[in-house]
Amino acid sequence: MTLWGGRFEGSLSEAMWEFTTDKSDRRLLQVDIEGSIAHVEMLGATEVIEPEEAQTLVAGLRSILAEAEAGEFAFQTTDEDVHTAVERRLGELVGETAGKLHTGRSRNDQVALDLRLYLVRAGGRRIEQLHKLAGTITRLAESHAETVVASYTHLQQAQPTTLGHHLLAYAWMAMRGAERFNDAAKRIAVSPLGSGASSGSSLPLDRDAVARHLELDGVIPNSLDAVGSRDFVSEYVFCCAQSMIELSRLAEEIILWSTREFGWVSLSDEVSTGSSALPQKRNPDIAELIRGRAGIVVGDMTAILSLQKALPLAYNRDLQEDKRIVFHADDTLGSGLGAMVELLGGLEFHPPAPGPDTVSLDIAEVMVRRGVPFREAHRLVGELVSLLESRGKTLSDATLDELHEVDQRFVEADLDRLDPTDSVRARATSGSGYPDSVRAQIDEIRRRI
Ligand code: ARG
Repeated sequence: MTLWGGRFEGSLSEAMWEFTTDKSDRRLLQVDIEGSIAHVEMLGATEVIEPEEAQTLVAGLRSILAEAEAGEFAFQTTDEDVHTAVERRLGELVGETAGKLHTGRSRNDQVALDLRLYLVRAGGRRIEQLHKLAGTITRLAESHAETVVASYTHLQQAQPTTLGHHLLAYAWMAMRGAERFNDAAKRIAVSPLGSGASSGSSLPLDRDAVARHLELDGVIPNSLDAVGSRDFVSEYVFCCAQSMIELSRLAEEIILWSTREFGWVSLSDEVSTGSSALPQKRNPDIAELIRGRAGIVVGDMTAILSLQKALPLAYNRDLQEDKRIVFHADDTLGSGLGAMVELLGGLEFHPPAPGPDTVSLDIAEVMVRRGVPFREAHRLVGELVSLLESRGKTLSDATLDELHEVDQRFVEADLDRLDPTDSVRARATSGSGYPDSVRAQIDEIRRRI
C-alpha cells in the first residue's frame, strides 16, 4: 500500500514500484513504532485527536512493537517502506482509527527521527565495543610492559621501546573512537518531529513533549534543516570510517608481524586460515578482511557526502539512500571490532630484540648531558656507528677504546647504555615506552573505561 494516491488514477508499474520502494529501512521497525507511540501520546495530550483514539492507537502500536521484538512482524511486498508497513498493520489491528496516526506528521520528519533514534543506540553499542577492544589491548600490554622491541619510523628500526607501549597506541585510538561516537550523539539525539513535510503544522503540536518522551535533548529549531539535513549521518559514517582505518592499521601490523621476516607473532589455529593449495600455509585472513573492509567503509564516507552534494532544500528522495550507506558502515565496524578482539586473543608474541643501532640517540643524549651541543653529539655517534661498521661490528659490541677513538669525553659507564633494554629503562619523558609509563597508561585507560 501507499500512503498517497488520492490524486492518482494510474499507478507505478511493477518495475517502478521495485525501483522506488525501500527494504533496507526495515531495521528501523522498532524505533519507528516507538517514535509513533510518542507522537500519538502527544496528539492525545494536546487533544489534537480524542484521548480515547490515542489510547486505541497506542495499544495497537504496542502490539506491533511486541510482534517486532518477537521477530514476527510480517512485511509485505506492497509496503512502500517501513513507515507504510506499520500504518498498514495498525489498520489491520485497530481499523479506521489508524488513519489518525499520521496527523501532524510527514514521513520526512518521521524518517529523520527514526534514523536518529537508531544511530543513538547503534553508537552506544560501538562505544561499548571500542572500550572492549581497548580493554583487551591493555591486558596484552600488561603482559608485555617489559618486552623490549624496536619502534619504527619509515618502517625502519628507530628507537627501542616496549611492546606494551606499541600496543597501547591502538588502545588510545580506540578510546578516542569511543569519545567521537559520544560527541556525535549530542548532535544526533535531537528531535525533528513537528517539522512535517517541510514547514511545520497548523495543529497545536507539542514538539518538546515528544522529544522528552523519546529521551532526546530537545528539538531541531528549523523545520527545513530538520527534514533536509543529513550531516548527522555523515558524522556517524566518519566515526565508523576513522575507527575502521585504525583497525586496518593494526590489522596490517599483525599481518606484517606474522611473517617469517618479522617473526613477532604466531597466530593460533582459532584465528588463522589455511591454503587450499599450499599445505604449509597459515594465513592471517581475518586481519586481511578487516584491512580490506576498511576501504569499503571509506567508500561509504564518499557515498554519504556525495548523496547530499548540491541537494536543494529540503527533503529529496535521494535521502532514502542514506540508510543503506550508514547501516553498511556501522555493521562493518561492529563486526570488524568483534573480529579484532578475537584475533588479539589468538596472538602469541615473541618479538626479536631490537637491532643494536637503535640506541644511537640515547648515546648522543649521554653526550648532551655533558654539555655537548646535540648537533655535534649526533655527528659523533654517526662517526662511531660508521667506524664500527667498517670493522664488522655494531654498537652492542663496541669497546671503550673505540668510543675514545671518536671522542675522549666518553666514559666507561657509557658502555652500559649500549643495551636496548637499559636504554628503554633510562627513558624519562612521560608517555614514552618505559615499563612504568606503560603501567601508568594502562591504569589511565582502565579508569576512563
Ligand atoms: N522512505 C523514505 C525515506 O527513506 C521516507 C520518506 C518519504 N518521503 C517522501 N516524501 N516520499 O526517505
